[in-house]
Amino acid sequence: MALYSEKVMDHFKHPRNVGVIEDADGVGEVGNAKCGDIMKMYIKVRDGVLVDVKFETFGCGSAIASSSMATEMIKGKPLSEALELTNRAVAEALDGLPAHKLHCSVLAEQAVQAAILDYYTKNGIPYDKSKFRTCLDDEEET
Ligand code: FES
Repeated sequence: MALYSEKVMDHFKHPRNVGVIEDADGVGEVGNAKCGDIMKMYIKVRDGVLVDVKFETFGCGSAIASSSMATEMIKGKPLSEALELTNRAVAEALDGLPAHKLHCSVLAEQAVQAAILDYYTKNGIPYDKSKFRTCLDDEEET
């Protein structure tokens, strides 16, 4: 059996929504210290809906495929729904990732949450911390 599904290969070779949103409403950048991969997510929000999403990923093929799939899954969705996106859902939508590559999909989940958090923070919108499962991990209150 091939290590990577056809969907992973498709999103790796033809990533959707690659690029930068110059006037983004929120930007989230996350990285994995062990592998050194970095993912940056840009979002455009209108009336609580993600009208546009783009990403830049400096990383492995699984990270690129995960970010591509994640953008497809949240584009056009309300922020509340995008916050529910889990790395597991991204990996499942890609028809699976090898166990040692699951952390690549975690990066996608974190990047989406970080971009939404940035949007909330910049606009002074109160948010429920419990909805941010991952990207607040290393941001302990002082
Ligand atoms: Fe680290 Fe893929 S190997 S994000």
